[in-house]
Amino acid sequence: MWERDPHTAAKHNLLQQYLKAWAPILMSRHDVISYAEGFAGAGVYKRGEPGSPVIAYEVFADAPHRLPKRMRVTLVEEDARRVKELQHQMELVRSRQTDSIPQRMTVDIRHGDFHPALPQKLRNTGALGKPRFVLLDSFGGPDIPFSLLQELGHHPRTEVMVTFEPAFLTRFAENHDGHRQLGDAAFGSQQWQAVFQQLSPHKFTSLREQYRATLRQPASHTRCTSK
Ligand SMILES: C[S@@+](CC[C@H](N)C(=O)[O-])C[C@H]1O[C@@H](n2cnc3c(N)ncnc32)[C@H](O)[C@@H]1O
Repeated sequence: MWERDPHTAAKHNLLQQYLKAWAPILMSRHDVISYAEGFAGAGVYKRGEPGSPVIAYEVFADAPHRLPKRMRVTLVEEDARRVKELQHQMELVRSRQTDSIPQRMTVDIRHGDFHPALPQKLRNTGALGKPRFVLLDSFGGPDIPFSLLQELGHHPRTEVMVTFEPAFLTRFAENHDGHRQLGDAAFGSQQWQAVFQQLSPHKFTSLREQYRATLRQPASHTRCTSK
């Protein structure tokens, strides 16, 4: 567990506001919708603020049009201690719900690397074409292969919110093969490496804009949400 910094609070606010708009629309049209996180965290911050899985669960539980809809929540986290805390936090939030909400909202918590566990799970449940929101909120990585975003983006009713922080690539990738390869996988090409020729004050913005442009490539249906 760690302190929730203002940056994270802003991200949580963005997530909450977006899901508040997204959930009722989809719940009014579909019987089953899914929410998944690849980097779920502990579900709580040091001063008791809720983590993203708890925030999302509460939005869905409160969404208008929810009856008699069903909701599948899949959470993946690789740190064993955070998984334990997350299980506890999700039990707490479920215990606060009334009527049949906990029965209709299943929560599946997995311990391990999000990739390939999360996409495999999404494929296996046969719900890839169904409405789904996926939060890929790593520490900034880059950890998310662009090929995964493309796979998810081929399903128009899937939405993905991905955290991207340029700092790691601008600071450490120029002289490190492994780090550069992570960047190549995240962007799906090597074009981003042009950032190494830029002046320092422009690197951060340039890489962020390039990542946005990557997400908007015509072949993908991905929608870009950035923070
Ligand atoms: C930024 S935190 C997530 C915060 C959470 N989404 C929230 O807003 O409350 C990133 C989390 O991803 C986990 N993590 C890092 N690498 C991972 C991986 N490859 N697969 C799954 N989880 C990972 C870390 O242990 C950490 O808990």
